[in-house]
Amino acid sequence: MMATRAQQRPERAEPARSGEQGRDFEFTSADFARIRDLIHRSAGISLSDHKRDMAYSRLARRLRARGLDTFKQYLDLLEAENDPAEWEAFTNALTTNLTAFFREAHHFPILAEFVPRRAQPVSVWCSAASTGEEPYSIAMTLIEALGESGARHASVLATDIDTQVLAKAEAGMYQFDQVKHLSPERLKRFFLKGTGAHAGMVKVRPEVRSLVRFEQLNLTDRDYQLRSQFDAIFCRNVMIYFDKPTQAQVLGRFEPLMKSGGLLFAGHSENFTYVTQAFKLRGQTVYELTRDTAGGARAAPARTTSHASTSGVTA
Ligand SMILES: C[S@@+](CC[C@H](N)C(=O)[O-])C[C@H]1O[C@@H](n2cnc3c(N)ncnc32)[C@H](O)[C@@H]1O
Repeated sequence: MMATRAQQRPERAEPARSGEQGRDFEFTSADFARIRDLIHRSAGISLSDHKRDMAYSRLARRLRARGLDTFKQYLDLLEAENDPAEWEAFTNALTTNLTAFFREAHHFPILAEFVPRRAQPVSVWCSAASTGEEPYSIAMTLIEALGESGARHASVLATDIDTQVLAKAEAGMYQFDQVKHLSPERLKRFFLKGTGAHAGMVKVRPEVRSLVRFEQLNLTDRDYQLRSQFDAIFCRNVMIYFDKPTQAQVLGRFEPLMKSGGLLFAGHSENFTYVTQAFKLRGQTVYELTRDTAGGARAAPARTTSHASTSGVTA
C-alpha cells in the first residue's frame, strides 16, 4: 500500500513503551501496532508512528472508563465483545477533528459562483463535517449566493464517522473566538449571540441550520446508502488520513453520487490526480467530474436525523 505524505516520515527508533515512566497503563509497541490495524480496518485511517502518544492518551480514557489495567486487556475486550458502542468510542477517540468556519476560504467564492448556474434546488454533501463549521459555512455560502428564498430548497448533507463531533455540530453552538474572524455582516446575518449562561458563545441561526442535515457515515463503507446525487461534494482534510487504495475506493463511490459537471472540493494537501481519472483538477484543489452520471445514484431508504433545540440565545 502507498502511504500518504504524513506517513512517509522516517520511522523513529523508539523503545517499546511498556512500563514507561509517567504512564498509568502498560502500552507496548505490539499494542500500538494492533490499534493501527484496527482503526485502519474500521475507519480507513492510517495512523502514523508519531501518533503513538496521541493514541495512548485518547484511549487511556477508555481503559479508565472500563476499569482495565493494560491496553492488551482493552484491545482483547474490544475485539471479543464486538460491542458497537465500544467500537464507536474507539473510533471517536482516534479521529482528528480540526476544522474552522470558512477554512480554506478560496473554495467558498468558487461554490458561490457555481451554484446559481446549476439546476435548482442544489444539494451539497460535506463528507467529513467534523463539528459543523464546514457544512454551516457551505450553507451560509448558499444563502449568500442564492438569496434566502432561493436557498430555501437547497440542502447540505453533513456526515462524519465520529458521532461525538456530529452531536456538537447538530447543536450549532460555538465560542465567539471561533467566529471572530468573520465579517460583521456574516456574524449578524448568520449567528445569534449567547446571553446569560451562554455569554461568549454564538449559535448558528435557524435559517442556516435548517439547510443542513447531519448523519453518521463511514467513508470506507462499501455502500453509503444515499438516494440522491449532489452538485458538489466537499471531502476536505480527511483523505490525508487514508492510504491510496482507500482514497481510490472512496472516489469511486463518489462518482455515481455526483450530478454531471459536479465539483469535488479537496483539502489543501490532498491530490487526487494520480488516484482517479474520473475527476479532473480545475485548480485550487477543486476537481470536476469528467463523466456524465445522470441517473447514476442508487435508491436506498432515507436516514433519519435529530435536530437541536434553540434556547438561551438571542439576536
Ligand atoms: C481534520 S477533520 C476535517 C474537517 C473538515 N472537513 C475540514 O476540512 O475542516 C477530519 C474529519 O474526518 C473524519 N473522518 C475520519 N475518518 C473518516 C471516515 N472513515 N469516514 C468519515 N469521516 C471520517 C473525522 O472524524 C474528522 O471529523
